[in-house]
Amino acid sequence: MSRKFFVGGNWKMNGDKKSLGDLITTLNTASLHDETEVVCGAPSIYLDFARSNLDPRISVAAQNCYKVAKGAFTGEISPAMIKDCGADWVILGHSERRHVFGESDELIGQKVAHALESGLGVIACIGEKLEEREAGTTEDVVFAQTKVITDNVIDWSRVVLAYEPVWAIGTGKTATPQQAQEVHEKLREWLRANVSESVADSVRIIYGGSVTGGSCKELASQSDVDGFLVGGASLKPEFVDIINARA
Ligand code: G3H
Repeated sequence: MSRKFFVGGNWKMNGDKKSLGDLITTLNTASLHDETEVVCGAPSIYLDFARSNLDPRISVAAQNCYKVAKGAFTGEISPAMIKDCGADWVILGHSERRHVFGESDELIGQKVAHALESGLGVIACIGEKLEEREAGTTEDVVFAQTKVITDNVIDWSRVVLAYEPVWAIGTGKTATPQQAQEVHEKLREWLRANVSESVADSVRIIYGGSVTGGSCKELASQSDVDGFLVGGASLKPEFVDIINARA
């Protein structure tokens, strides 16, 4: 089955209106492959700015949200607010949320459920730490994380699964195409056994972790790699090359 290639840029806590404005101009004026779905993950304070300035063919994502619509939760934002800014996606379960901010699988699952109920698309992140890979538990870890996400998904057509090995994030150490393909294939097998044939065939499984303009083409040639979630390189003009990796 052919799955639409999906490239997300996660700007993380970077940029200001000047630098993000320059980046947006680069993206708006670039020749982007029509067959690729592109989403930019903006800091929450710049969601409105990103949506107002990015070309409509590029979607906007928040980088996190809370598990309920409103209330006394100082500092949090809700899916309703994200939608109100015109953004359609949210990144949930990113390793920085899990490991820097201590978010549990349970909380991430609740956020996935609420974001989907609220009409957002969800880029749901999973991935093992270096010690887990070295201990040979990569599959156990990513399957357990995927199970919690799965238990909270009401509509798989609005979910993209992002495999991001923690040891590859921001380290310059990209997983090899073979390492990425191996995990993506296992994840698809897991979805086939635990969700359904059609979800296994249709869900986009994207790779994140030090993807660059140099590494993207070979990674994109793997049969189960359906796109990327890009951090550092999404802030640079080479993001265009990554978007066009399958062109
Ligand atoms: O969300 C993106 C990932 O954390 C990858 O970040 O491309 O800077 O390694 P990176």
